[in-house]
Amino acid sequence: MKSNQIRDTFIQFFVDRGHLHQASVPIVNKEDPSLLFVNAGMNPFKDIILGNQPATAPRVATVQPCLRVSGKHNDLEEVGVDTYHHTLFEMLGNWSFGDYFKQEAIQWAWALLTAVYNLPKDRLYATTFAGDPQAGLQPDEEAAAFWRNYLPTEHVLPFSKQDNFWEMGEQGPCGPCSEIHIDLRSEAERAAVPAAQLVNADHPQVIEIWNLVFMQYNRQASGALVELPQKHVDTGMGFERLTRVLQGKTSNYDTDLFMPLIERLIDLSGKPYHQSETVAIAMRVVVDHVRAVAFAIADGQAPSNVKAGYVIRRILRRAVRYGYSYLDLHEPFVYQLVAVLVAQLGNVYPTLRLQQQTIEQVIAAEEAAFLKTLATGLKRLHQLHAATLPTGVIDGQLAFELYDTHGFPLDLTRLIAKEKGLTIDEAGFQAALKQQQLRSQKATALVLGDWQLLQPGEQALFVGYDRCSMTTSILQWRTVSNKQGPYYQLVLKETPFYPEGGGQVADVGWLVTAEASIPVLNVQKEHGIILHTVQQLPADCTRAIEARIDATQRRLAECNHTATHLLHAALQRVLGTHVVQKGSLVSPTGLRFDFTHPTKPTAAELQQVEALVNQRIRENIPCEEQRSVSLEAAKAMGAKALFGEKYGATVRVVAFDPAFSLELCGGTHVPATGHIGFFKIMGETAIGTGIRRIEAVTAAAAEAFVAQQTAAWTQLSTLLKQPNDLVEAVTQLISEKNQLQKQRLVHQAKAIQDVTDGLLAKIQQVHDLHLLVEAVCVPHAEALRKIAFHYQSHAEHMVVLLAAHWANKVQLTLVLSDGLLRRCTKTAPEWMQHFLPLVGGKGGGQAHFATAGGTHPAGIEEALSLAKKLFVAYYTQSE
Ligand code: SER
Repeated sequence: MKSNQIRDTFIQFFVDRGHLHQASVPIVNKEDPSLLFVNAGMNPFKDIILGNQPATAPRVATVQPCLRVSGKHNDLEEVGVDTYHHTLFEMLGNWSFGDYFKQEAIQWAWALLTAVYNLPKDRLYATTFAGDPQAGLQPDEEAAAFWRNYLPTEHVLPFSKQDNFWEMGEQGPCGPCSEIHIDLRSEAERAAVPAAQLVNADHPQVIEIWNLVFMQYNRQASGALVELPQKHVDTGMGFERLTRVLQGKTSNYDTDLFMPLIERLIDLSGKPYHQSETVAIAMRVVVDHVRAVAFAIADGQAPSNVKAGYVIRRILRRAVRYGYSYLDLHEPFVYQLVAVLVAQLGNVYPTLRLQQQTIEQVIAAEEAAFLKTLATGLKRLHQLHAATLPTGVIDGQLAFELYDTHGFPLDLTRLIAKEKGLTIDEAGFQAALKQQQLRSQKATALVLGDWQLLQPGEQALFVGYDRCSMTTSILQWRTVSNKQGPYYQLVLKETPFYPEGGGQVADVGWLVTAEASIPVLNVQKEHGIILHTVQQLPADCTRAIEARIDATQRRLAECNHTATHLLHAALQRVLGTHVVQKGSLVSPTGLRFDFTHPTKPTAAELQQVEALVNQRIRENIPCEEQRSVSLEAAKAMGAKALFGEKYGATVRVVAFDPAFSLELCGGTHVPATGHIGFFKIMGETAIGTGIRRIEAVTAAAAEAFVAQQTAAWTQLSTLLKQPNDLVEAVTQLISEKNQLQKQRLVHQAKAIQDVTDGLLAKIQQVHDLHLLVEAVCVPHAEALRKIAFHYQSHAEHMVVLLAAHWANKVQLTLVLSDGLLRRCTKTAPEWMQHFLPLVGGKGGGQAHFATAGGTHPAGIEEALSLAKKLFVAYYTQSE
């Protein structure tokens, strides 16, 4: 079976059993601060499982790409070294939300594996939860009994909490689980050792393929387990492992999911896959990592230095470095695998295909940048070589600097050190790393308290499209502590506060009680619930409060948000339909819009865009808003959706003349475009390969900007005596200035030449020593150097010491001839030290040439005569 067929078969099996096939969500998690990436198929359903949200359907099946590279579920170190762990993998899952439970989950898993996929029954094993007396959890006898309907007793194995109690993270849904393992060893191996001994023992041919979780609890921040309102089923099957089993391979990488990528890598590197164990590992690492990086970029997460972006950067660097060290790939290469990936998965994940060019560009640029720091790091290592002698040990702190500043993984430093016969102080490195981790943990640690429930009730309802204030009540609150100290988050029954989202910043405002007006500092949406951040709780949280937003700030943000939509539409009209929004920021003070476009838009194009937006503003087009449209219907209307955004089943559509601007948007907008008044582009820049950024202002801010520009223009015009054409006048001024500059250089060169010629007569001779020690008048320090070198070879034993000053700034330049240096061992900087204090200066240089700066011009004369005496004395002594 081809992998595509295996995937389709899974979904069809569960659709036939009443499951709704739901699309996957982007792997970059934008809604859950405790999780950077989707790490399990159940993530999008967390709130349904917890009972915070109603289920879309009681039975659901999905194929969900997952990334396990950080947090509780992290497989990164195993990837490539073994043949069955991945950073990004597809998880096949079926769900029951308060519908069927253990019996059907087990029955269907068995039927699919043995009757549809035809896996040999005698090679299958099931594990169940053995219970945990300490936590007060009973063994899962029920699941074990269901399994014994299909498997002999010795194939049903109890395991402890560590293996058979699945938890999403430190907090959240959890429950006992039952895993299905398969024994893929040869008959001889099977006869020698029973698989029952190898289950859960990291044997590469006895592996887990499917996990059935029976969700029953919520793990709270305190560690306590609280029963969920309903019981659910969450299953997850590793698609790559299943494919390997069904394609009769011994490694996931030998399947049709990875082989085309490996073949391309063989082409690029010119090395056979199994040339050596290190080459094979490197190839597996690269083909695994390119998938993770490509999916993340397709979902809008480019490599960067923070959070999710840093995780992606590390994965990509890991791939580049494996290629560099073991496949001899010293030029960007990872990006060349993207086309192969798109050919394989582009139909299943259309975003990959649509974003192919961006993915390739981002990866290529990131690779090129890292290869450069790799080279700088290598140079630094080279310098370290000298510094480590004679111990031969690279200081741990320095190895850490390579890691931290140049992005060098420790194993790369270790490898190169070994080639040079050096070792690394690894304990020192680990200590430096630990220190940094502690520092960053302290900076980011966020401790969430448990929710204090005041009233049962639905989650907060956003009414801010229609209202700016209202009387409401607090449903629940919790404390949050970070390094700035504790604050509170409140959930209101209804709220006019817009939570940050879709590029628009959160509303600010107040919660007004009889006693106080408490400022609302931030408003965030988490799993669909609106959280209001305050630094103080009302005296009585159970009483009604007035929630009131700062309406002036909101109106300004609305002007900027609507202008952003108009700008987006105008860019597509003027630059072309390839323009895709890459990000936006809408605040009361202005807007920022990032979009794809291969070149810098011309000034004329930008002007056209600005004019089109302003024209649409003057037309005072009303906002046409539809609050609850199905996603399909919205797309059919032609509404623009963003890549990497997760949309619910119903969406809000905002149009300003549907033929001009029609977007899926949850943000707030002006009732008609005329409210914006005026739109002004402030600047346009590149922020990445093929990505441009426009910054703009509207309404009063735009007016203020124009007024300021006009004032500056008037001032300039006055300064230039009101010329008819200001641009022409400034151009002329610049050309005159350049002309004068040229003339000045000619004059200076002539003056320097005159000084040089005049100095010939000043050379003194004492025995064979020739001395030119003079104060001169030259335009700049560079002239001193030129003159000094001019006389350096005037005689075999020559000293040139020249001084000049400009106001209080003194400059000394000393040049010695080679003959003199051979005769006296003292270097130019050493000589300088003797007379430099007289001009209050500091300096340095090389053996035959030193310069120094000082601050005491009155000391020049004395310094020169002292210098003369010293040179003569030294010379005569050494004669
Ligand atoms: N949540 C379980 C897992 O990730 C099953 O889907 O393994």
